[in-house]
Amino acid sequence: MMDPLLQAALDARAHAHAPFSKFRVGAALEDAAGGIHTGCNVENATYGLTVCAERVALFKAISEGARQFRRIAVASDTEDLTPPCGACRQIVWELCGDIEIALVNPRGKTEIYRMSALFPKPFDASFI
Ligand code: THU
Repeated sequence: MMDPLLQAALDARAHAHAPFSKFRVGAALEDAAGGIHTGCNVENATYGLTVCAERVALFKAISEGARQFRRIAVASDTEDLTPPCGACRQIVWELCGDIEIALVNPRGKTEIYRMSALFPKPFDASFI
């Protein structure tokens, strides 16, 4: 039985708009009330304006009023499981703190980390 959060991230890949890279990513974020917010990567012809699945899920969740999060899952079809990019690590850290992050692929391979392990010395609001 697949964890519903990981399954939501896998399902979200189906909506990826990735005409340039063909690299489909899904993300799912669990809020403190148990709600699940999903996202997929949305690419742009300028490339640089592409938004990753993790940020889409997180900004959707914030825009719907969620403020506290327990876990995030990231799904892509790679054998070496895809971790979040640097920009997403910064934003997940700022908005979610040291949450659990699960990586998964469609064959059910999973790895679980904490954000502090992936992003060990962050710049954040405490420095301002
Ligand atoms: N991408 C994500 O959506 N999340 C990640 O964690 C890594 C990269 C997307 C961005 C782009 O659409 C494609 O994957 C290739 O970089």
